[in-house]
Amino acid sequence: MDVLIRGTRGSIPVASAETQRYGGNTTCIEIITRAGEHILIDAGSGIRALGDDLVSRGSTELSLCFTHAHWDHLLGFTMFAPIFSSTSTINIHAPYNIGRDGIRTVLGGVMDRRYFPVTFDNIPAQLAVHDFTPGDTFQIGSALIETCPTWHPGGNVAYKITADGWTFFFSGDHEWSDDAEAEPVCTMLRTFLKGVDLALVDAQYTDEEYLARQGWGHSTYSAWVQVASDAGIGRLLFSHHDPARTDKDLDVILDHIRLRFHPLPIQLDMAAEGMVISAQDKNIQIEHKILPQVHKDELQGESGFTLLAWINAFTQELTRYNDVGVLLDRILLEGRTITQADAGTVFLVEDDHLTFAFIHNDTLFPGSAANKFAYANTKLPLSNTSIAGFVALNRQTVNIQDMRHLPAGAPFSFNEALDQATGYRTVSTLTVPILGRNNSILGVMQLINSMPDGLPEPFTDSMEARVQLLAAHAGSALERGTMAQELVLRMLEMAAMRDPHETGPHVQRVGSYAAEIYHCWAERHGIDIDELRYTKSQIRLAAMLHDVGKVGISDTILKKPGRLTDDEFAIMQKHCIFGAQIFKTGTSELDRMGQEIALHHHQKWNGRGYTGTDAPPLSGRDIPLPAQITAIADVYDALCSRRCYKEAWSCTEAVKIIKKEAGEHFNPEIVDCFLDVLETLEAIRAKYPDTVDTCQGDID
Ligand code: C2E
Ligand code: SIN
Ligand code: SIN
Ligand code: FE
Ligand code: FE
Repeated sequence: MDVLIRGTRGSIPVASAETQRYGGNTTCIEIITRAGEHILIDAGSGIRALGDDLVSRGSTELSLCFTHAHWDHLLGFTMFAPIFSSTSTINIHAPYNIGRDGIRTVLGGVMDRRYFPVTFDNIPAQLAVHDFTPGDTFQIGSALIETCPTWHPGGNVAYKITADGWTFFFSGDHEWSDDAEAEPVCTMLRTFLKGVDLALVDAQYTDEEYLARQGWGHSTYSAWVQVASDAGIGRLLFSHHDPARTDKDLDVILDHIRLRFHPLPIQLDMAAEGMVISAQDKNIQIEHKILPQVHKDELQGESGFTLLAWINAFTQELTRYNDVGVLLDRILLEGRTITQADAGTVFLVEDDHLTFAFIHNDTLFPGSAANKFAYANTKLPLSNTSIAGFVALNRQTVNIQDMRHLPAGAPFSFNEALDQATGYRTVSTLTVPILGRNNSILGVMQLINSMPDGLPEPFTDSMEARVQLLAAHAGSALERGTMAQELVLRMLEMAAMRDPHETGPHVQRVGSYAAEIYHCWAERHGIDIDELRYTKSQIRLAAMLHDVGKVGISDTILKKPGRLTDDEFAIMQKHCIFGAQIFKTGTSELDRMGQEIALHHHQKWNGRGYTGTDAPPLSGRDIPLPAQITAIADVYDALCSRRCYKEAWSCTEAVKIIKKEAGEHFNPEIVDCFLDVLETLEAIRAKYPDTVDTCQGDID
């Protein structure tokens, strides 16, 4: 059974550019069973185009069910083309008391000559009217039709239609009213909802609007979510959209209602004209055929901007990155774009403190000059004395117009030290919590100095709402990134049990060195920023795993305190191919790059490197780029570190060795990039210092 939504509007049709996506036609639903039954519910203005469709498809036999006789559910009937064809057979089903005297009287009245040129009795189609009592059950071919009265002025029936293994519910108009008289009807309807797979319902009002519209016969979004979820319904589609609502309004309401009820296992959507719900045996898919493709440029200006489209596109983009650093940078950039903030900072919550995780400041250090600050080791106590600490502890947004005039009685104060040190002037700030699933606090995003016209201004309420939405969606992406990173680190902990120098700090350094050298290379080559972020996100994790193949080397060689013999070194070289084999069965981009780096990280630019296989070594640009980059990162870190077989070089010496190897061991262009980002590499070294001496005793 497929359900096609032909009209979603309540009360009266509307037509404007602002209502195009959700549609302006009033209620009409088309249902097609696999056995070929064609069932329509209600004859709102949406039935006109459907009628033209049916005629062109040559459909001649159909059933039309009415929920009630209010204008908006009826006004398309006279323009429904099949009634003017003598080859059509139309079975009309309606409650016997619809409009008091039944559907024949209602349609007869509407099609009186005073209102319409053709009278009901002169309709050429074969019409059969079937009156039923609300609560009755009947069959239309393979489809079981159940009915139930609802609470609506003048009466209304809800329909439950079961065919092809699933059950569709349509409420028609209904108010979940507190009125004592409504109670028996509401109780009946709650029971009726059991066993429904998807419910399309009348949700015309927000909670606030409803306060002034009680007794008008329509429900709120939230009332339906509660009732449907109590009834165990998995999908709810809101309909009977108020004529005053634009597409944008509906997007905002949907976002809010989803946020508010996100812990409930129920999927919430706005019904849109053109939606096709196709399902077989409860496997429900919803496709929106007329929804235009959203282009990135449309998301920029206010005119094309819709909250839902924006947040969907953004969350979609975040799924491409599995690196925490890239995610934080991207999230912060989005927060700043929304608010036109000059600067911003992200903190991550770690144990009992906040760790400074990313900073942007267009005035002090534009663009990628910010990268070196990303590795700063600044910590804040997790306490109410700072705004970031307060926001994290209380999971509450703080919006400050002027940091020099904090609200009276605020537990936090403004630490001007940073402004004084940098000469920057922080005026307005907006600080939001980044929450994960189960409301756990992951971090805090602080946006600084909203400057739409070049001077700091307060952050507006709508900025605040959008940034909160952003932070709510960013949380799950961050959790995923953290999980990927932790999995990689766990794999490396296993390796460290064999080879104590493959420790957390060492691989973190090599991964971050590789990421930053790549960033520089990509900027020089004008690589598109999305591509840059994606690759940067892969290379950090993949480079961390470059030596994972060492787990396959025996202890006598791996842990030998002195120089290796030639034979021993030949065996040691196999760590490259062993590493590549670990990734062999993987299919992700991370596995592909991990394999490339493991196999080729000891190749040399001059062709004198190795992979531990019989294949002749590669040289120059035949060596995959991520491996060329990791080679420098790896050697630089090995040079600066003490090993069981050698003392550490000083960093100046290490840089000299790398420079000397340009054109020999390394691609000279990548050596240039390495030199370019050296300051950032030093910040990385300071952030991940060796915590234990992994090599006890003297070196031979
Ligand atoms: P590793 O210790 O992580 O070193 C990685 C790479 O850094 C080395 O690759 C080499 O290219 C460079 N490197 C490390 N120390 C120095 C140095 O003092 N001077 C110079 N110029 N380059 C240096 P390589 O040589 O292919 O070795 C791969 C791995 O084999 C090393 O990883 C280490 O685990 C092991 N290994 C290499 N030589 C010896 C040795 O003499 N004794 C022991 N016990 N292990 C060794
Ligand atoms: C209707 O009952 O749907 C029409 C009037 C209204 O929206 O209140
Ligand atoms: C940027 O916005 O500076 C690039 C993103 C990144 O650092 O990964
Ligand atoms: Fe209505
Ligand atoms: Fe290696």
